[in-house]
This record gives sequence, structure tokens and C-alpha cells, in this order.
Amino acid sequence: MPSEGELADLVGRLDLAAKVRLLTGADLWSLPPEPAVGLGAVTMSDGPQGVRGTGREDDPTGLLAPAPSALGATWDVELADRLGALFAAEARRKGVDLVLAPLANLQRTPVAGRHFEYYAEDPLLTARLAAGVVRGLQGAGVAACVKHFVANDSETDRTRYVSRIDERALREVYLAPFEQVLAEAGPWSVMAAYSGVDDGSESAPMAEHRGLLRRVLKEEWGFDGLVVSDWAATRSTVASAVAGLDVVMPGPEGPWGDALVAAVRDGRVPMDVVDDKVVRLLRLAARVGRLDGRGERPEPVAADPGLLRTIAARSMVVLRDEGGLLPLAAPESVALIGPNAVRPYLQGGGSAFVPARRVVGFEEGLRAALGEGARLSVHRGGDARVRVPFLTAASATAPDGTPGVEARYLAADGGELGTAVRPTGDWGTFGDFPPGTHRVVLRTRVTLAEQGTHRLQFGCAGRHRLTVDGEVVSYEEERGGVEVVLGSTHNRPPVRHRDLVVGDAPVHAEVEADLEVVDAEGYGRFVSAHLRHRPPGPTVQDEIARAVRAAAEADVAVVVVGTNEEVESEGWDRTDLSLPGHQDALVRAVAAANPRTVVVVNAGAPVLLPWADEVPAVLWAWLPGQEAGHALADVLFGRTEPSGRLPWTLPAREEDVPVPHARPVAGVVDYREGPHVGYRAWDRAGREPAFAFGHGLGWTRWHYEEAALERGPGEAWCTLTVRLTNTGPRTGHEVVQVYLTPPQDPSLERPVRLLAGFAMVRARAGETVTATVAVPRRAAEVWDTGAGCWRLPPGRYLLRVGRSSRDARLTRTLDVP
Ligand code: BGC
Repeated sequence: MPSEGELADLVGRLDLAAKVRLLTGADLWSLPPEPAVGLGAVTMSDGPQGVRGTGREDDPTGLLAPAPSALGATWDVELADRLGALFAAEARRKGVDLVLAPLANLQRTPVAGRHFEYYAEDPLLTARLAAGVVRGLQGAGVAACVKHFVANDSETDRTRYVSRIDERALREVYLAPFEQVLAEAGPWSVMAAYSGVDDGSESAPMAEHRGLLRRVLKEEWGFDGLVVSDWAATRSTVASAVAGLDVVMPGPEGPWGDALVAAVRDGRVPMDVVDDKVVRLLRLAARVGRLDGRGERPEPVAADPGLLRTIAARSMVVLRDEGGLLPLAAPESVALIGPNAVRPYLQGGGSAFVPARRVVGFEEGLRAALGEGARLSVHRGGDARVRVPFLTAASATAPDGTPGVEARYLAADGGELGTAVRPTGDWGTFGDFPPGTHRVVLRTRVTLAEQGTHRLQFGCAGRHRLTVDGEVVSYEEERGGVEVVLGSTHNRPPVRHRDLVVGDAPVHAEVEADLEVVDAEGYGRFVSAHLRHRPPGPTVQDEIARAVRAAAEADVAVVVVGTNEEVESEGWDRTDLSLPGHQDALVRAVAAANPRTVVVVNAGAPVLLPWADEVPAVLWAWLPGQEAGHALADVLFGRTEPSGRLPWTLPAREEDVPVPHARPVAGVVDYREGPHVGYRAWDRAGREPAFAFGHGLGWTRWHYEEAALERGPGEAWCTLTVRLTNTGPRTGHEVVQVYLTPPQDPSLERPVRLLAGFAMVRARAGETVTATVAVPRRAAEVWDTGAGCWRLPPGRYLLRVGRSSRDARLTRTLDVP
């Protein structure tokens, strides 16, 4: 690595304009190169479900990992490390230097749109897994970018809201994972969030938050990396530059550039503020091998997709297994049922999206594992989506006779700039049209052949007019702004439909959509039109009846229920916790038909399971990524233990949720629950969830023999040495969890209990093993807002060792004088 002196020398070779030029993206994903100092272009790409790449590579596909909440459920730091290394291999293959992952935000509300992208509702669990991912990435020479700093835990109106949090909760809960990841793994970059924070002493958007970026992150914590803005999050020149933001993404336009040069010239921004940003950029470039001849980068290694299968299987949580149904003893016939059995939801939506090279769905995975000998029948049991499928080339014909939908690109004066035909009704496109395009006119003739009722459904973003046979079906006068991309409208434009009844003869419907290109500031220009069609088919009731018949005839029924791309995504928060469609009715009907029913929940965030104690076995399978089917088969048929533990609390009823939503009121999201995040709020309210934080049965049993407590060693506050025996029938993993109950002082809002440490052990049937859990002093400390420092309140602390936040097996005490 170059010395600080060398970095300063390099900066000294650049004039002001040359320095400032480096601080705004050259395009959507790269920073500008500067040959004068040997700086190559630093290229970024999204994580954290894989590495999407920039879209410029020959092969746009990649490895698709389980979504982060699945990794959260493994509680396995070593797996996190290995996953980081896999991301690094993917990044190197794609020419990416910096991966925009991991997320260190918290699952503060169960409805948060990016819940699946966060690891946990607990700061410590989040930090330890995020640190693992950072180590894995950076150990292989790829920068991690820990995001979104800070308190950006919900999506509704996320570019505008301000999170109001008292300083103690901010320190103890929301900053805590960032602080710990920094201390443990030293990430080379951090992303400043869209949202703002009001901590009582300053209220500002995060890109301009001087107290948090400059004072806490850089000065107090000594962060020497690069602070990158979230995409199009920077709205000011001086305020953001002096607050501690280092680079504005994306570019090439943006609020810095010439405006920042001018601000430095007239003294509003000191030159050394700019120099510091450039030093940070060069330091990062050296770390990832983009600064000529300086810095060392390890040789890239190939990624092992087998790891994705292991994580997907190990992350699955056995919520319930009455009568020891799991794993299934070689069944002769399996009825695989459910909307997510036929269309698994493998990754969450939004910027984390990865085009997977290959995916193994549940049907394929089960079929491969069952082999020729066993019968597998597959039934959807009703659709769970509101939106019907995209129009396909089979029924759509462009005006020139080509199958598909035609687009004409028009200039502002109406002149035609070009045309294209796509074989699908999915016409979402980002900048993928001739320069100067102002409007896009889509045309197609849809042939409706089967007798019965057909549904044509349309969703368009921004200003548009859509007609069917000349009649207006969808119309909008409003222009869309940046929120259109980030929020719902680009990915999920509101839909309108037209039903057409077909008799003896086919019907042709002429569809025309006239769309104005949407200019999403900072992001580029797009159009988004979804043309959809559903031919007549069986009703949901018919589908459920068929599924029930199949279940009754099979040895076992495996029902896969869950969310889908209409439910879990960046860009919006959910409005309720129910499973979409008729899935609850489907589960109940199938379970009534076959007592050997396993329900598999394919969701990244909590959904209510009102039938949970009516079915023998419930397995939470997350958004499992490309190896979904193999992983489920490994678990169902006894190859890999589903050793996951819930990284969040699963509510039994919507009305029990302590923090049910995070909708801003007058622009403010009020974190009024203070330090009582997740299970802490449940404990404080004395409410009973369906399944507690940390719960997961695995496939064996454990007896906790004894726990010894000693102070230290070294940095640790105390260490618990726990002896436990695997008393069940199989080799298994146990997550030994330690919860701390601080002395309850009415003048100090303290959680009833909080996760203070954990360790993973593995033992054969009958084997006794020892788990060593170090508890950091910080777990017991409180932030003293007045004094601006941490302190350890005196009193008696209880340390409960057990299997979940509500299943303590052994207790020790520690007195602080
Ligand atoms: C997201 C970030 C992401 C960035 C780039 C933003 O909308 O909030 O998490 O890294 O886009 O895709």
C-alpha cells in the first residue's frame, strides 16, 4: 500500500478541476480514471444477493445467493465469510472493484420493503454477519460498501423522510452494527443513505449529515475509506461536500462538478476537504489494485456454487415438527403444491437483483433427489399474484406481422427515430432507446383464441395513454420524477384491466400505448409499460380442489407458500403481513387431506401463518437463490440439517406487532420505541409472538449441561463456556445464544434482554461439546448522551444461555460494582 505521503504527493499533482472531476461517477457504475496519477476507473456493482455487474460484460448472468435474511438465519459467521469470498470471485470475473454490500440496516418493522436484504432485527447478529461478508470480499481484493448509513430501515418515501431517533437509541441500536463492522472488518467504503437523521442535535439528509459522517464515522471511529452517496441521493454541493460525503454516484451529471470547483474557489469549501476525498479515493483504488503499481491484489479464485446450496439448506428454519416428520423417510409419492412450488421466489426485487445463470426450482430439485422410483405430482393450488402474466409472442403480433410488440421511438416534434419489436409485453426499459426519444408508441394485436373470459392487464409509468380497440383503458397526465424509479411506479406501475369474452370465433384486440419517456433525475430516462394477458383457466377453487386430491393420494404433501415480486422488494414497504392470494385456505385444505403435510415458507420477511399449529411441520425456506430446489431436497430428505434460527420475531397476529409500520408522518419516521428494536419490543410489551427471535429446532435435540462464566479474556467483558450434549438422533448444529438482562433502572430505558453473544457448535448424536461465547463490554454499556461517551451502569446483570430469546436453559449473573 502507498504511504500517506505518497497519496498526498499524487493529489498534489492534480489541479482543482482535475480533483473534483474524480469525485462524481463517470457513468452509472464507474468513477473516472486519471492517467496523470495512474488511477484506473473504480467500478462498482450491486450486491448483496450476488454481483450483478455493470451490464457491460459479455455475460450478464451470475451466481445468485440466498437473500441476506437467509444468511442471517444461519447465524454462521464462517459461512458469511465464505459468501463474501464468493462475491469477490464474481466481482473479479466481472471486472468489479467494489461491491455495494453488505447492508447493516435493521429489520425495525416486519413490513420494511428491504427486510429480505437486511440480516436481522438485532444489531449484534447483523454486525457479525456483515463483518464476515466484508472480510470475505476484501480478503480477495474487492472493496465492500457497507450501506445504508444510517437508520434507513424502511422504504416509503425513502428519499425524503428523516428518521427521528434519540441519540442513545441511535448509538446503541442503529449505529452499532456499522461501528462494529468497522472495528471488526475495516470496510473500504460506506454508503450514505437517501433518508435523513434527526438525532436531536442535527437534522439533515444523510449525504449532508456532518455530525454522523464527519464527526462520528470519520473522526470518532477513524474510518479511512470512501463515503459513497446512494444513487442520486446527493442534492446539494456545499452541504454534502463539507459534511463528509466523498463521491457522488452516479454521474456524469450531479451537484458537484463545476459547482464544487466554484465553491472551493470562493472559499465555501476548503481545499483540504477536497484533497481528503481524493486521498480516500486513491487509497481505495490502491486497495483494489486500480492505482498503477501500488497496492497488492491477491490472485482471483473461482467461486464454488456448492456454497450457495449449503447456505440455502443450512439457513432453513424448522419452526415446527410435530411427531418428527422431518426429514422425510424415502416417500414413494410426493404431492408438491403451491404457487411458490411452481414459481419459486428466489431473490428479492430492486437494486439487489441478479440475473442468475441457472436456477434449480423446487420441482426440479425434488425430482432430482427422488429419482425414478418415486412419483411427484405438482399443483399450483391457485395463483397468488395480482398481476397476470406478460403477453407473449404466442398471442401478440406487431403491425408488420412479426410476433410480439412493436415500439416506435418518436422525437419531441413527432419525427420517428427508430423502431423495435420485443417478443414480450414487458416493456420496461432504461435508456435503451435512440437519443432524443421523447415518446414511445407500443402497438400490438392480441389474438384471444380460447373460449371464455380473457383478461388484458396494463401497467404504465408516467404520462401515457393506452387504448384497446381505440377505447382508453389507462391514462395519466402526471409526469414521474425520481421516485418513479425508486418507488413503486417503475417496477410496479399501477395496473388497469379489460376483460374480453370470447365465444366460437377468436377475437383480436388492438392495443396501443403512447408513453412519454420519464426523466428520473440522476438515474437516466426510462419507459415502463407492462402489457399482460391471462387466457381463461380453472378458478382458484378448482385449483385448490385438484391440489387436495393429489395430496390425499400421496405419501406426503409439501406445500410451498410465500411471497413474490409483487410483495417483497426495494422501493416500497408492505401494507400487511398476510400471505398473498388464497394460500392460507390452500394450506388448511391440504393439511386436512393429508396428515403428513410439510409447509415450506418461501419468503424473506415475516408473513403470518394462522394455521401454524394445525399442520405437522413448518419449514421457513427464505428467498433461497439459485440452488433452491436442491437445498430443499437436501433438507427434506435428510442430507443437510436445516440448522437455521430466526433472525427476527415472527408475529402471530398483525395487531401484536410493536412497530407495525414506518410510514413517515410529515416527513418524519419517529423511532419512538427507542432501543427496543425487534424482540426487545416484544419482551417489553409482554406479548407472545408465533415464534421467537432465535427459534429453530434443527433436526436433533440438545441438553445444556452447564455454563461457566469468567471475566475477560482480553477485550471481552466476560466469557461463557457452555457444555451441551446432542441428545437427539443425528449430527447437528446448535447456535448457543447468550442474552443479557441489564439491571432495570427506571431512569434508564433498558431492554428486558438483548443478544450479547452467540456461538455455533456441531456435535454427533450423543456427543458433548463446549461452546465459548465471548460477551463484549459494549453489550452491557449505555450511551451517555450528556457526557457523549459509553458507560457501564452498576448492578446485577443476568446472562441467560439458551436456544432462543425465549428459551433460556442456564443463567449466570455478573455484578458490576
Ligand atoms: C439502492 C442502493 C443501491 C443503489 C445502486 C439504490 O437505489 O438504495 O442500495 O446500491 O441503488 O443500485
